[in-house]
Amino acid sequence: MKLSYLGHSCFQIHFGGKILLTDPFISGNGLLKDVNVDDIEADYILLSHAHQDHILDVERIAKRTGATIISCAEIAYHYSNLAYKSHPMNIGGKWKFDFGTVKMVNAVHSSSFPDGKYGGAVGGFVIWDEDYCFYFAGDTALTLDMQIIPMTCPELDFAILPIGDNFTMGVDDAVIASDFIHCDRIIGCHFDTFAYVEIDHAKAIMTFKNENKQLILLEPGKSLELELDEN
Ligand code: NI
Ligand code: MN
Repeated sequence: MKLSYLGHSCFQIHFGGKILLTDPFISGNGLLKDVNVDDIEADYILLSHAHQDHILDVERIAKRTGATIISCAEIAYHYSNLAYKSHPMNIGGKWKFDFGTVKMVNAVHSSSFPDGKYGGAVGGFVIWDEDYCFYFAGDTALTLDMQIIPMTCPELDFAILPIGDNFTMGVDDAVIASDFIHCDRIIGCHFDTFAYVEIDHAKAIMTFKNENKQLILLEPGKSLELELDEN
């Protein structure tokens, strides 16, 4: 499975024959060099919530690619009212798309558009097909609700968790989250983009290693070919 990190919480993931993009914040990310928003391909754009650092480039990418926006109802309807394709969901619901199944799961955070308009529920997504399953947590605190994921979804191959602290959980809480979701391969997000979320990389990786877990910290703009066992 090919996964590219476009910085902050933005990942481009080739899944089920389609290109999925999460929380595009690209043109505003000073850490991301040599990536042109107008070159990014997407069939689906998954939005965890409406904060600027998660939606900045949605319209620009969706307009050019015709990608379908998957998010909570309030965000999906906001974009469908602007004539973008969208699929509304809400917490606890799942839907079978042409690339696989998406379950929207709880996140503990807040959500409003940059102009203050209500952004609805904040979510994460568990995404699976016959072979693979992963969790994109979005912006969230550590929450006991994460324990529901292994009870209701296939076994996770990897999970993308925020680790930058201040606005979301930090590294120590992410280690506990990895226990809750029964997944020891974690890809970090929501770190280093702003001064509030700068982290010590070596320390973060060691914190996971000490619990026999793997924390992968990708450099913005870098791709990774994930070698995954088929379930
Ligand atoms: Ni946020
Ligand atoms: Mn954020």
